[in-house]
Amino acid sequence: MELPGGVVTPGVDDPRERLPLLGIPDDLSGLSVLDVGAWDGFFSFECERRGAARVVAADWFAWHEAARGSKRSFELARAALDSHVEDVEIRVEELSPESVGTFDLVLFAGVLYHVRDPLRALEAVASVTSGRLILETHVDLTLKRKPAAAFYPARELGSDHTNWWGPNPAAVEGMLRAVGFEDVIKVFPRSRAYELARAARRRSQQGRAVFHARRMLRT
Ligand SMILES: C[S@@+](CC[C@H](N)C(=O)[O-])C[C@H]1O[C@@H](n2cnc3c(N)ncnc32)[C@H](O)[C@@H]1O
Repeated sequence: MELPGGVVTPGVDDPRERLPLLGIPDDLSGLSVLDVGAWDGFFSFECERRGAARVVAADWFAWHEAARGSKRSFELARAALDSHVEDVEIRVEELSPESVGTFDLVLFAGVLYHVRDPLRALEAVASVTSGRLILETHVDLTLKRKPAAAFYPARELGSDHTNWWGPNPAAVEGMLRAVGFEDVIKVFPRSRAYELARAARRRSQQGRAVFHARRMLRT
């Protein structure tokens, strides 16, 4: 994460590499944003920088499980950036209009494969989305056209026991529609040719994908 004074924090992941893939609009003026699974807040601070009127960073595990770090990095970055990003300590399954309200834009990056029950998590995410969802996730079985998901009961993915599921793109799209999202599109990777080339190059059907979807709240 880049902080004032030319400081770039060390870390295990560089979200600057994923930022262009997410397709976050350049101008978020006036919008409310919820960043679910915000971790150290990289995408939350980026949305604030793009003009969002209100940004809420939501997380729990990374802020409370010692093995995953603590909330101190998020708080340090918020202070260094003189940021007004709010924080809420909540698990994705507990999101609801009553607990956090609803948001024009919801980011759900790098979390779907960590939840034991992805449909239940997406239902909760849908309930707090009054506009657009941007979902970024690990995907598996990418060459299968029918909806399918790989199950990782132990540490099969990245030696991380909190990785449970590797849905393929068709499964992610299907789940998003099943919980009420419309206009579901995969924005990365865009083409089947890219997916085929990636699988051949890596000899693996695993990768990352980004989806945009909308939820219209009907009155
Ligand atoms: C791989 S990190 C992704 C962080 C950030 N969104 C990004 O894309 O760089 C996964 C994050 O999801 C959070 N997480 C995992 N399970 C969660 C759950 N059930 N509810 C809320 N957050 C969860 C973790 O605490 C962690 O911050």
